[in-house]
Amino acid sequence: MKNLNNLNLTAIKNVIVRVDYNVPVNNNFVIQDFTRISRSKKTIELLIKHNCKILLLTHLGRPEGAFVSQFSLTNIKDQIADNLEQIINFISYEDFKNDGLSKYHEADEGVFLLDNIRFFEGEKANDMFFSKTITKNIDLFVNEAFSVSHRSHASVDQMAKNILSCPGINFYKEAEVIDSIKKSSAKTFAIIGGSKVSTKIETLLSLVKSCSDIFIGGAMANNFLKYQKVNVSNSLTEENIESQIKAILHEALTHNCKIHLPEDVILDSGQEFLITDLNYKNNFRIFDIGTKAVDKIKSLTEKSDVVLWNGPLGYIEDEKFSKGSIEIAKSLSSSSSKIIVGGGDTLLVLNIAKQDFNNFYFVSTAGGAFLEALEDKILPGIKALTIQ
Ligand code: 3PG
Repeated sequence: MKNLNNLNLTAIKNVIVRVDYNVPVNNNFVIQDFTRISRSKKTIELLIKHNCKILLLTHLGRPEGAFVSQFSLTNIKDQIADNLEQIINFISYEDFKNDGLSKYHEADEGVFLLDNIRFFEGEKANDMFFSKTITKNIDLFVNEAFSVSHRSHASVDQMAKNILSCPGINFYKEAEVIDSIKKSSAKTFAIIGGSKVSTKIETLLSLVKSCSDIFIGGAMANNFLKYQKVNVSNSLTEENIESQIKAILHEALTHNCKIHLPEDVILDSGQEFLITDLNYKNNFRIFDIGTKAVDKIKSLTEKSDVVLWNGPLGYIEDEKFSKGSIEIAKSLSSSSSKIIVGGGDTLLVLNIAKQDFNNFYFVSTAGGAFLEALEDKILPGIKALTIQ
């Protein structure tokens, strides 16, 4: 991929920056986490320094090719402007329907923001005609939306292929860090939590090839415990997942990767139990990892050069069961190993645990894209930037 920092920007004026401002908002449209916005700042500032006129494109939520007021950027454009410390010229859905991008093209300079790109049918369809309407008279397409690079949408894929394109500063860093994990010969330990194994099978099958150890926590671990004939009673599990678990364990063995499961757990009653003692109990649900499991993660962290964390280790929606995840967030933040954290819910844990993102080697802005990038495939958004 090209690097924006090395690109000759002197002859470049009109620039599209695809950002991912698909940020969490509350019922009053107040943005709850600005990470994705602030991470795009360096790219925007660099382009402004070179006198570029910027058109920001983003999606928000999942409107299906039609205007939905709840997902309009009108609701959050002022907060975006404040965070970016820029004046934002807004191009509404109506403006675009009536005059296309003339508001942008008629101006000499400035930062413009088009309303939600997913209001237009051509976006999800990765439509060539639609993407050419947007990139007409644009000199450079910059993708600063790593977190949506797993989607084959027009503003991720086709637009990058139409004109000169390159990744933004944060996009480049995200792709580089994930690539380094996959290629690393350093001792890498992955902590994988969350509730569904089925969404992380491919990721786990890839990780066993590059990691020396993987700790599986969260509700995902219930399936592995059950597979090993541990009584998990009414705990959250998935149906028909046995063959995938068998494949993951088999691949782990082949690649010399050790899979660790919690040795003890916290039940819905709040009590802590060794998993070997669960066989004598009934009517319970596992909601968090126990003390020994936390200690195990800490000791594996100390022995590893690189630690990758994705997914909460317990039912963090309830404060009583977020202790394991919080404890791990705190201990990782002071670890001397290279700590890489990714996935929306994992960032939520860092926020709950009041941890400064700067204490970690890298915190990815991506959720689904982070996991897919760890798999053995090239994401459409990355591929489109490497074609030229
Ligand atoms: C995300 O939040 O993971 C990205 O913005 C992608 O959003 P999507 O899952 O709606 O495509």
